[in-house]
Amino acid sequence: MRVLVINGPNLDRLGMRQPEIYGTGTLDDLNTELSQLAVGLGVELDTIQTSDESEIVVAIHETGADGLVINPGALSHTSRAIADALRSVDTPAVEVHISNVKDREPWRAHSVTGEACVLTIYGRGRVGYAEALRHLVNRSAMPFETRRYGPHVCNVGDLRTGEEGLIVLIHGGVWRHQYGRDTMETLAVDLTRRGYHTWNITYRVFGTDGGWPGSGHDVLTALEAAPHLGLGPVGGVVGHSAGGYLTLWAVGRTKDIVRSAVVLAPVVDLDDAVAEGGTLAPEARLLLAAGAPPRVAARDERTFVVHGRADQIVPVRHTQGLEAERLETDEGHFELLDPSRPHWSWVVERLACSFEST
Ligand code: DQA
Repeated sequence: MRVLVINGPNLDRLGMRQPEIYGTGTLDDLNTELSQLAVGLGVELDTIQTSDESEIVVAIHETGADGLVINPGALSHTSRAIADALRSVDTPAVEVHISNVKDREPWRAHSVTGEACVLTIYGRGRVGYAEALRHLVNRSAMPFETRRYGPHVCNVGDLRTGEEGLIVLIHGGVWRHQYGRDTMETLAVDLTRRGYHTWNITYRVFGTDGGWPGSGHDVLTALEAAPHLGLGPVGGVVGHSAGGYLTLWAVGRTKDIVRSAVVLAPVVDLDDAVAEGGTLAPEARLLLAAGAPPRVAARDERTFVVHGRADQIVPVRHTQGLEAERLETDEGHFELLDPSRPHWSWVVERLACSFEST
């Protein structure tokens, strides 16, 4: 697979340009990191940067690549020419913004070019480029169909069909709108390669009419809808981080529907998150004020927990008191989303057992 990464105006100034917003790494650093990742993913990668709109249009026309990762910089907010160029080719494009364009000046919130892309990743820093590349790889590896479970634009999930057994995936992101279901895709693709049907859902979060009770309501609705996909009962649910909190909360209410739950670095204790004052604190405070349960518990013996001691986002003590079979690893928070890490075979075994005993 060949992917072209296009960076637009002013992105050659990364490292010097407003480092408090865009970070201190340069464009060369970014391209080196991406090239290394590309080798591991079996992707042939080309990168260009130009501040000239017409050069971007021509690069899109002439790409010949199987996928595009594009950060058009400020042209994102105005360039109908780039948007039309993206629409004029069959190549799927993922737009990336390093900064959180939805939480800055109002004119940055809308992207004209993003409308012509299959996915927009924003506000995740430079890691967004790597996640865009992974999305393109997952997309080309396995087709999916997006199926709706409710009326809101966020009430959808990507269905990948395997042979038998349905697993629902619930992403995290601390209820922040810049994180979505693409973060669970590599796990979904791995599980479908192993023969399971997977439904990788998203839900309302802060900034998309959610938080609490919105997120909880949506996850519950999705789990209730899952058996009606025509793929049999829900054998397992896999949730990560905030999605782990939602999983623990929702599977306790869907005992007749969900056979087993695996939670990866789940947020368990909102009071603790507020007291600690770390990354989770602002959303945890809002959730508590909106009536979310301060603690969630493991449902029964069919709940499995994985947590990494190097987790800087959800402290490992969150899950140490959970009464569930538990694996503690040396990983950090996001490594648990990587199926090539050692914990994943443990997870897969637990999921397989829960199907056997269905
Ligand atoms: C940007 C966001 C744009 O609004 C801005 O004009 C840029 C960079 C980003 O990566 O966050 O140049 O695309």
